[in-house]
Amino acid sequence: MSLSKGSQALLDMLSRLAGTTIAIRCFLTSFFARVFISHHAIVAILSSTASTTSADIPGRKARSQLQEEIEIAFETKLSDLLSLSAKMQDQFKTALQDSPHCMLPSYNYQLPSGHEHGKYLALDVGGSTFRVALVELQGTSARARIMSQRTYKINDHVKRLVGLEFFDWMASKIAESIEGVEQLKMGIAWSFPINQTSLRSGEIQGMGKGFCANHGLLGADLGNVIEEACQRKGLKISVSAIVNDSTATLLANAYTTSSTRFGLILGTGVNVAVQVPVSCLSSRKFGRRPSGWHEAATYVVVNTELSMFGGSSLPVTRWDKQLDRNHARPGFQPFEYRVSGRYLGEIARLILVEAVTDAGLFDGLLPESLMAQYSLETELLSKMQSAHSVSAAKELFEACNPTASVSVDDMTFVTTVARLITQRAAGLIAVSLHALWSLRAQASKTKEGRLTVGCNGSIIQLYPGFKESCQEHLDRLFEMSNSDHDTVTLEMAEESSLIGAAVAVVCA
Ligand code: BGC
Repeated sequence: MSLSKGSQALLDMLSRLAGTTIAIRCFLTSFFARVFISHHAIVAILSSTASTTSADIPGRKARSQLQEEIEIAFETKLSDLLSLSAKMQDQFKTALQDSPHCMLPSYNYQLPSGHEHGKYLALDVGGSTFRVALVELQGTSARARIMSQRTYKINDHVKRLVGLEFFDWMASKIAESIEGVEQLKMGIAWSFPINQTSLRSGEIQGMGKGFCANHGLLGADLGNVIEEACQRKGLKISVSAIVNDSTATLLANAYTTSSTRFGLILGTGVNVAVQVPVSCLSSRKFGRRPSGWHEAATYVVVNTELSMFGGSSLPVTRWDKQLDRNHARPGFQPFEYRVSGRYLGEIARLILVEAVTDAGLFDGLLPESLMAQYSLETELLSKMQSAHSVSAAKELFEACNPTASVSVDDMTFVTTVARLITQRAAGLIAVSLHALWSLRAQASKTKEGRLTVGCNGSIIQLYPGFKESCQEHLDRLFEMSNSDHDTVTLEMAEESSLIGAAVAVVCA
């Protein structure tokens, strides 16, 4: 990005100032990054003056060099993002023809009108919670509400339950929650891949997020497995609809906003559902469906399983490589490993571990609390980035890492690392939506106009500035690709898994 004369003069002055202390340098770098002046311009100017002071303090020079390396490694240049979008479009097209794991067509070909109404039972099997709720679709003014719900934490013990053990656990929680309303129709939002074989059934596939429920049950019918587990608990329950959580998000948002064509989940995991013309997929992808389905369907909602895309096209840093190497399933979900809540904290931790050894972070001592894999939670990064000052961020960090020796300078480094990692993630999410939009636009052959992405998940909802940064990247990508004034807008879809599960039942 080229700088205006005024900005250049300001930077010249600041660069003279910046020779004085590293702290000012860090502050200027992050301040200017926030107001969207190219990081490189600032880094280049400031680096030329920083070396005189950094040499005085052991580890400082290495630290500023490391920070510069991180800035370069995580930079998201728009031109790179645009060419990544083209590569992802190719990958999407191939998967729409052949992949058994991604671009999975649902049975939902109709989006809700907003007039649907009634009371439904909804289950949400998420990455860290299982919820059972009673949902009312009110029909008038397209409103939906959760009448009651029970939430159960899915801790590591539950994640390790193998095969039917997990479904028996689920059934015991359902039994606890639904007394008196068993007769209602039930929809399920499932936050894992599923190969749908009807609106109420689908084959269980590989599960990420540390779950073992699929062990021994690959290919089994999810609807039957759940109904049978409920029967073992004496419950007579029948499943009316199963949808992936990204599809649920699309449906829930479409219930209130008619321009919705995408559903984005970005929490523990990542995924996007998109409504595309049926002609985008090969006939093999639909498996055996009743001819009535094909006669009625012009469009279909597809669960992209975005997490598994990207492969060798995605930007890769040495910390991404390390994360992948240490992962129980290397290469399984490359996109997810770069953007989702389960991994952002771990990428940051790997960088901090290196900075401790090579750049004197925390006085060169790695606190025990950061030694184990995944011990730095993305939630902490999010809280630190919302803190109003460095010292407030430092307090939050120290509360979770009581033995760490943290200077203000260390803290600035940590928050800069968090910002760079999440900015890259926001850029990558924007790329994936741009690529899916392009694909849809090419296939629809009509002007797309203003479309909406229903969004849900802790990162897109709660991480400070994430949604805004993602929208900004999207707007720039649309500007650069001359999209003829088409736009795609991110919109939060509250309680989308539960509401979407209910909408899926009624859309049947
Ligand atoms: C799963 C998807 C799910 C997404 C968001 C991914 O890890 O594979 O099926 O939609 O997480 O929950």
